[in-house]
Amino acid sequence: AADGTLPRLEMEFTVSSKKLQTMVRHMVNEMRKGLESDGHMLKMIPSYVVARPAGDETGSYLALDLGGSNFRVCMVELRGQGQTAIRQSKHMVSDELKTGSGEALFDFFATCIADFLKSIGIDPKEKRALGFTFSFPVEQNAIDHGTLMQWNKGFACSGVLGVDVVNLLNKAMKKAGMNITATALVNDTVGTLVSHAYRDPQTFVGVILGTGTNAAYVERIADIPKWTGDRKNITDMVVNTEWGAYDEQSILPITSYDQALDRASNNPRKQILEKMISGMYLGEIVRYILVDLVSTGELCRGIFTPKLQTPYAFDTAYMSRIERDHSLELSDTKAVLENMLDVHNTTVQDRRIVKHVCELVGIRAARLSAAAVAAIITKMKRLDACTVAIDGSVYEHYPHFANRMRDALRELLGIMAENIVLEQARDGSGQGAALIAALHAK
Ligand code: BG6
Ligand code: GLC
Repeated sequence: AADGTLPRLEMEFTVSSKKLQTMVRHMVNEMRKGLESDGHMLKMIPSYVVARPAGDETGSYLALDLGGSNFRVCMVELRGQGQTAIRQSKHMVSDELKTGSGEALFDFFATCIADFLKSIGIDPKEKRALGFTFSFPVEQNAIDHGTLMQWNKGFACSGVLGVDVVNLLNKAMKKAGMNITATALVNDTVGTLVSHAYRDPQTFVGVILGTGTNAAYVERIADIPKWTGDRKNITDMVVNTEWGAYDEQSILPITSYDQALDRASNNPRKQILEKMISGMYLGEIVRYILVDLVSTGELCRGIFTPKLQTPYAFDTAYMSRIERDHSLELSDTKAVLENMLDVHNTTVQDRRIVKHVCELVGIRAARLSAAAVAAIITKMKRLDACTVAIDGSVYEHYPHFANRMRDALRELLGIMAENIVLEQARDGSGQGAALIAALHAK
């Protein structure tokens, strides 16, 4: 089968318009089920966020943002007229913290908050409210209460599953001698949606295409049958879809590489769509394919390097560089392979193959993302006008991702796609959490 792998890859990774259309219909249906009752593929979590900002909110709010490639502490100043100013500190969360005890993780947050406040000249002992962006599936039972249903994106801290994360944070801050209370618990998609709506009231959807992937949108309360809370005076609510968990086997183009990646992950059989779309995994899919191509002798004369055989050694950022490489000899691709993966003496042909593999995986991800967006717009019946705010490293930095999504949206929605505005949002979650804290202080 030495010459058979490439054409097979081509077939396996290409998703037709028809397939995408089937996915849209199926996903809309799954959204309905998730809104009816709990326990379905799509969790459709009511966020308790019932108001979108008017744009005139003012004040300074603290926000904490966990779940992307960085953990951040932000001081957000709402200046009215949709204007904000933000000061923040960014931190890496080490692998030890990601898989250690929950207590250590939340103590780390408290330390970061105290250090940040000191660095901007604020006494950490002052009383203040904080918006907590915690970007994992959380069963929310109030704006400031929610229990973790599942870790993902490489996190696996003990003692947090099934526990109220706001309480964990509040306890840690108290232990550290601070007088700060988390008053709003927010998913990053919800934060992105709300912060973008502060500037553009046509924003009804917030999407993250980053380390993980997910979306939140504005749903009519009448269409959330499982909502048992008070319906008086509320017409709609932001719903966190948790679309990364979509896993319909009969529709998703799941390959043997996806299966291998899933099996070796620390959350097997979970977050299947997320594993085909998001930044944590795209490079790893490519790595699996390259290993296969080397093993059949189709790549690099069959010579392996230990790096290439190391899980997660191929960053999605390398794919971005390779896809951006339009030089005749693919010289930057050569540099990536040599410097990052110790793969030397590649031929131009080898590098073309590597680039093509990146394209196949990148295009598939963008098309699946577009189908998921189309499903939300279809469910909302907002084909006439809707702004979708999108944040995350994949959407921001992966070349052609936005255009490929746009193309797929056109295939799916035809002329109606022109009414859908995909807007790059940046650092929205922290601001969104601050805004939500502000809305709830009103
Ligand atoms: C950021 C948000 O802007 O985007 C985070 O503030 C979010 O909360 C992130 O998770 C997603 O980006 P990435 O690529 O860092 O996962
Ligand atoms: C994961 C989380 C989700 C989050 C997304 C993007 O899918 O489950 O809550 O929004 O990552 O960060």
